[in-house]
Amino acid sequence: MRILIADDDPMQRELLAGFLEQQGHRVLAAADGQEALTLFRQESIQLALLDHRMPGLTGDQVLARMKASNPLVRAILITAYGAVETAVNVMKLGADDFIEKPLDLTSLREKIERIEQSLAVADDVAEVVEAVASGPLPLQIIGASPAMRETLSLVRRVADSPWSVLIQGETGTGKELIARLIHLLGPTPEAPFIEVNCAAIPENLFESELFGHEKGAFTGAERQHRGRFERAAGGTLFLDEVGELPPTLQSKLLRALQEKRISRVGGERDIAVETRVIAATNRDLRALAETGAFREDLFFRLNVLDVPVPPLRRRREDIPALVEHFVARDARRPIRLAMETLDLLVRYDYPGNVRELEHIIQRSLTLARGSLLQPSDLPEEVRRGAALDQGLLQERLDGLERDLLVAALEQTDWIQTRAADRLGISERVLRYKMGKYGLRRREG
Ligand SMILES: Nc1ncnc2c1ncn2[C@@H]1O[C@H](COP(=O)(O)OP(=O)(O)OP(=O)(O)O)[C@@H](O)[C@H]1O
Ligand SMILES: [Mg+2]
Repeated sequence: MRILIADDDPMQRELLAGFLEQQGHRVLAAADGQEALTLFRQESIQLALLDHRMPGLTGDQVLARMKASNPLVRAILITAYGAVETAVNVMKLGADDFIEKPLDLTSLREKIERIEQSLAVADDVAEVVEAVASGPLPLQIIGASPAMRETLSLVRRVADSPWSVLIQGETGTGKELIARLIHLLGPTPEAPFIEVNCAAIPENLFESELFGHEKGAFTGAERQHRGRFERAAGGTLFLDEVGELPPTLQSKLLRALQEKRISRVGGERDIAVETRVIAATNRDLRALAETGAFREDLFFRLNVLDVPVPPLRRRREDIPALVEHFVARDARRPIRLAMETLDLLVRYDYPGNVRELEHIIQRSLTLARGSLLQPSDLPEEVRRGAALDQGLLQERLDGLERDLLVAALEQTDWIQTRAADRLGISERVLRYKMGKYGLRRREG
């Protein structure tokens, strides 16, 4: 990385520069804020390491100006020991991190590594977004949340490799979308992307669907049929719901993957097929493999690279953008969301993930009367969901509080002054809470 150091203390400046160069970074050093800004304009800098207190411009002022000319620059502020309050302010100004004096070089190295990591993720994600925008498919993927950015970065990295990819995620999280994206970003986006839904094909037809058959192979096989494996040659075979694959086919699939050859049902010869395999499942395939419900060797074959897709409730930040996307796509007249409507949508837990959200929006748009989507237009579980959540939270907090009270009372032999002391509350509050939970010392 190219790092700019601004520090008025020459000793510290040299120490830092030496250390960072040793780590393989290109380092530029400035003795004050003005000089730092001059260097910043001349060179392309990825990370600035700024002393907060310098004569002239302070570190945060320097940073604000850097950000104004390049919002992508990352920064670590060097602050005085214990100056956490300014540090918090400084983070608000756009610093990625801060480090206190005296400098702990190990911790500095870790902070820089973290930033490098996130820069790499940002690059990957930018590439994915660009590919989707310019790609031939009407794909749109929304995912600015950290969890989804991780996934997209992974997508970028696995796309070029020829290895099998296993996409794991709950139902409706977007596994198929991710599979198409991997294909699109891979080396042969024009080659076929062939899908096999392992849960939907009847077992007796499966082999012929996957590997094809020769004319007369079985009753009804009136002509030769090329299976999906063959049709995916040179491209991608997408095995959806792979956890549902019947055991007999698991071994046939394994053989095809290992030998890169298949034989059609009723066929005499083997046919060489090169295809990239992407599998998806909403089950815990590793656990199934451990209990013997899924062939372990096939699991390892499929799971060379694994791409987890996070459930929607772990990336609520994406909900508003997804809502906007679905409304724009499906609304037949201009319609807006009331604040409380969006609020409820963000709080709901979505056991069916993005697909459920998609359906909720479609349904609500159909039912809505005015030009404003009201909470009453939402399905009951969404409206109730938020309330239930809060109720549950209160219940848990109450349970926790009760346990803490009992523990403190037991430990102090039910002497209320001491228990209150231990809990950091007044005796009056303790008595109130004991009454609330009905706590009384048991006799004997
Ligand atoms: N990040 C996203 N941005 C935009 N649309 C999305 C996103 N994720 C999912 N969708 C949409 O949500 C729906 C469900 O996605 P998809 O079919 O890929 O999920 P899945 O994980 O394969 O579901 P299942 O487990 O039911 O097979 C699709 O209509 C898809 O276009
Ligand atoms: Mg799917």
